[in-house]
Amino acid sequence: MDKFVIEGGKPLFGTVFAQSAKNSVLPLLAASVLTEEEVVIRETPKITDVTCMAKILEELGAQVVFRKGDVSIVSAGAKNHRIPSELTRELRSSVFMLGSLLSRFRRAECAYPGGCDIGLRPIDLHLNALARLGVRITEREGYISCSCDRLRGAEIALDFPSVGATENILLAAVLAEGKTVLGGAAKEPEIVDLQNFLNAMGANVHGAGTDVIEIVGAESLHGTVYTPIKDRIEAGSFLIACAVCGGEVEVAGVKPESLGLLLHKLRENGCKIHTKNDKIKIASYGRLKCNRKIETMPFPGFPTDLQAQATALNASCEGGALIVENLFETRYKYVPELLKMGADIEVKGRNAFVRGVERLHGAELVSGDLRGGAALILAALGAEGVSEVLDLSHVDRGYADLQGKLTALGAQIRRVTVP
Ligand code: EPZ
Repeated sequence: MDKFVIEGGKPLFGTVFAQSAKNSVLPLLAASVLTEEEVVIRETPKITDVTCMAKILEELGAQVVFRKGDVSIVSAGAKNHRIPSELTRELRSSVFMLGSLLSRFRRAECAYPGGCDIGLRPIDLHLNALARLGVRITEREGYISCSCDRLRGAEIALDFPSVGATENILLAAVLAEGKTVLGGAAKEPEIVDLQNFLNAMGANVHGAGTDVIEIVGAESLHGTVYTPIKDRIEAGSFLIACAVCGGEVEVAGVKPESLGLLLHKLRENGCKIHTKNDKIKIASYGRLKCNRKIETMPFPGFPTDLQAQATALNASCEGGALIVENLFETRYKYVPELLKMGADIEVKGRNAFVRGVERLHGAELVSGDLRGGAALILAALGAEGVSEVLDLSHVDRGYADLQGKLTALGAQIRRVTVP
């Protein structure tokens, strides 16, 4: 298990180029089984969630080849419709493979993905929607088995704009008979990217980015070469890192509007933000002010995947902040680790009450989930003294070369392998 050793207090200066978006590349990989022809996804980030999804595709019988930063998938040989349970547990979001396996094989089977460190994460919205498309679903001993004679287009309305359920429905409807109209769809940029990818394969999908998406089933789809959008959550994490440490950082590759309310909140802290096309520049000098309130919402609200990082920032700002986590039930597991650094935060259910302290101090910290781990790293970068952040397996799921990118900005951060 590796750890980071971080000497805090160094301001950050320079430019960061955002990686391809983890939460776009994963559904694109799932969509690659919708054709027997070669699909190439360009500039694939070197993160373990991608490696895990590639393993799932190989288990299904696809050929997956990583070459010079791209990944090529040929699933002509795919015959297996069953996702191995250990891989479903490792990668919860593999549940949207159900849609593409049903489109390809009319059958799909996976272990119930179950909860994780940020919440229960049920999949009722996915399963109800698949049933509307003509899928028969049985759940037995933790396994979900799906089958259908033919996927049939339908009118579907989501009670909650679930990202994964929206993606699963697109993957199940693109080859269905007739038209599907999805109301209450998630509007995240990654949904738009999936629509564009599917249309590049010959699909007929329109409306992504709004809450009504129309999918007219195609006869078949063909291969494509596609460059995904860049990772807005990685970009937001670097912007918050600069806010925490001070300095001037430019993040390239991400449209400002894809960050939801983050830029507005960073300006509220007292940071200077300038944007031009897909470049966002932040300057942070002196002690910042707490945000009065940060409430996570589906896109275009404040992203839940930046909640932990923003809480870490507020921990050493002036004043107090109320953080409200509306998406996941238990997305504050990183807070006890911040308390070890001298933070003053009280968690009550979905609320975290932050009272800013002058400065956090270094401590030995244990990362428990992807974005919580990122928050601990940001806190350590701004703290007085040396911190260690253990169990990097979580941040490695979503941040490619985090140590290299932070070092290039002036951070003192070393990766050490713990025997
Ligand atoms: C996606 O997860 C992202 N993951 C998450 O990012 C992100 O936090 C989340 O969307 C919200 O933006 C990927 O894209 C791979 P949801 P997903 O379905 O699809 C409830 C990260 O750090 N819900 O929009 O699982 C659910 O419990 C990860 O990169 C149901 O009740 O999120 C949650 O409260 C973490 N029933 C809320 O909806 C369902 O059937 C949002 O979940 C599905 C979801």
